[in-house]
Parts: sequence; C-alpha cells; structure tokens
Amino acid sequence: MPYPNYGKIDAEDIEAVIAYVRSLEPIATEIEASKPDFLVNLIMGILPLKAGLTKCPPASDAIAYGKYLVTASACADCHTQFENGSYTGKPLAGGRSFLFPDGSVLTSANLTPHETRLKNWCKLQFIERIKMYEDPEHIRKLNPGEMQTIMPWAMYAGMTTTDLAAIFDYLQSLEPVENAVTKFLAKEDS
Ligand code: HEC
Repeated sequence: MPYPNYGKIDAEDIEAVIAYVRSLEPIATEIEASKPDFLVNLIMGILPLKAGLTKCPPASDAIAYGKYLVTASACADCHTQFENGSYTGKPLAGGRSFLFPDGSVLTSANLTPHETRLKNWCKLQFIERIKMYEDPEHIRKLNPGEMQTIMPWAMYAGMTTTDLAAIFDYLQSLEPVENAVTKFLAKEDS
C-alpha cells in the first residue's frame, strides 16, 4: 500500500477518492482485519504520522503536474531497484524484479531519459503505448511461460492524454540513469 505516495497528494483528490468509495454498493465480506506481525508493527509505529499533503499543480505547469501524477500513481514503487526489503537504485531508473509463482522473472523498465530505454521515445509513442490498453483486444488470457506483467497498463490507459503527456514531460526532465534491464525471463532462461 503506497501510503507515503498518497500522503503527498492534494486533500481535494483524497476527498474525491473517499466520495467515490462511499458511492460504491456496500458488499458484506468475511475478510479479517490484517494484523501486522511484530516487526512490521514496529515499522508502522515509527512511520511519520503527519502526511505532507500538497496542492495539485495546474496542468499548464506540465513538469510539476507530471511529477504530481507520477507520485500519485506510485510509479517509482515498481520502477526503482529493490533488494532485500529496501530501495537500492535511483528513483524511476527501473530494475525492480518480480518473481512469478511459475518461476519466471519480470523486471521494471528504466523510465529516465537514457539510451537504455526512454531517451528516444517521442511523446506520442509514450501516450499510444499506454492508451492501446483501452482496447480490450490487448487484454487476453495468457498461456504458461508467456510474458505477463503487473504494470497496471489498463488502469493508466484511462488517464487523459493531457495527463499522460505531463507524465512524459516530467520523466524526460529527470537526470538520465544508465540501467539496461531484461524485461522478462521465462522459467527455462531464469
Ligand atoms: C505495480 C508495478 C508497476 C507500477 C505501479 C508501474 N509500473 Fe510501469 N512497468 C512495470 C513493469 C514490471 C514493467 C515491465 C513489463 C512491461 O513492459 O509490462 C513496466 C513497464 C513500463 C513501461 C514500458 C517501457 C518499455 O520498455 O516498453 C512504461 C513506459 C512504464 N512502465 C511506465 C510507467 C509509469 C509512467 C507508471 C506510473 C504512472 C508506471 N509504469 C507504474 C511495473 C509497474
């Protein structure tokens, strides 16, 4: 749960989320409240209690607005190298690996403007790459061993082109970090 990210967004956006959640049809479930184990409990206890809420910048300030959206979308949580329980890489430079139950390994892309990935992308290519998942054709059942992903493509495809363009502008404003990653290793190669 990306609490630190959500703790930095605009109070008005959080209120909108609360209003939306309250509009959902109530469903009774038997899910037990989670009980963090001893250590996690301790960590949660020392997490800063005060959220650093910010005002959402105007869309006309594309880089600041894009940064706000990248924070609210928790892109860096997946797109930053993570080893042994902590972040070890430069933010948004990719390289976090996820092990699937079938033994294959998926690794997040470098989102900084470096040759090792996004440097030569144009804005339109970035927007189209995400928007294509609005088409249900791109969401299909996979066979064992085929590349699969946890990148929330279909959710981000619902963003407006203005928002995606601002995200792109912000990513392109970052310092380029060299980090070539292998996106997917099926079990037999991993
Ligand atoms: C839950 C984890 C997760 C989150 C959150 C996430 N990503 Fe990803 N993303 C991945 C993984 C894993 C890959 C590599 C596999 C793939 O291409 O689907 C990826 C791939 C990508 C690619 C493809 C690059 C290429 O090489 O083709 C782009 C662009 C991207 N992400 C942008 C973003 C942006 C922008 C955000 C936030 C708005 C974001 N991602 C949030 C996990 C995530």
